[in-house]
Amino acid sequence: MIASSTPVIAIDGPSASGKGTLAKKVAEHFGFHYLDSGALYRVVAYASKASGIAWTQEEEIARLIPTLDIEFKGNDILLGQLSIDSLIRTEEMGKGASQVAQYPKVRTALFDLQQQFRKSPGLVADGRDMGTVVFPDAKVKIFLTASAETRAKRRYEQLLQAGIKSDYDVILHDLQARDKQDLERATAPLKMADNALCIDTSHLDIASVFDQIVTVSQQAL
Ligand code: DC
Repeated sequence: MIASSTPVIAIDGPSASGKGTLAKKVAEHFGFHYLDSGALYRVVAYASKASGIAWTQEEEIARLIPTLDIEFKGNDILLGQLSIDSLIRTEEMGKGASQVAQYPKVRTALFDLQQQFRKSPGLVADGRDMGTVVFPDAKVKIFLTASAETRAKRRYEQLLQAGIKSDYDVILHDLQARDKQDLERATAPLKMADNALCIDTSHLDIASVFDQIVTVSQQAL
């Protein structure tokens, strides 16, 4: 890995822990770039399916990755000319992302791409292994967590706001299955970095978690 003095704020945690919303706000606050690493795994799941590659085919998926033309553009993600943000945010692609993310060859193929987001004046990166594997020298490491029930309730309400009626029990079940897969995989599992600050957001609102992250970051940067 090339040493870089460009600061990174790594925000890791399980799905629906509030990482995405907070990481975006923190990036805006500091005027930093933002990496949504989960979106990359989702794009890979989507592109594999679109190319007729099953989510069990590690070699084929890893070979597909360097051929993908992925561009983050404002709030959208382009795959070639296709706007795919809404296509990758489904529960199906979340599951697919978690499945393809188990494979060491897939993680290796995405490693350099993720590091390219580290640009001046700084980067806020959210995911599962930002502080442990991709940016182990991050200046700030945050691990966000919340009970599975709280996270399932948040997801349920998010979907409802988007006009999608779902079943809370199914969401909770899927979330727990995804947690298990992300926690138990052999390569780069979801794990808190040794020197990370752990924040349980179960009983906190976004504003107070944001304040904590900004305060810690201001001290460290
Ligand atoms: O953050 P998300 O829900 O969009 O991520 C989707 C899946 O991608 C997640 O269940 C596991 C995988 N992932 C990963 O393995 N490593 C990351 N840094 C980010 C996501």
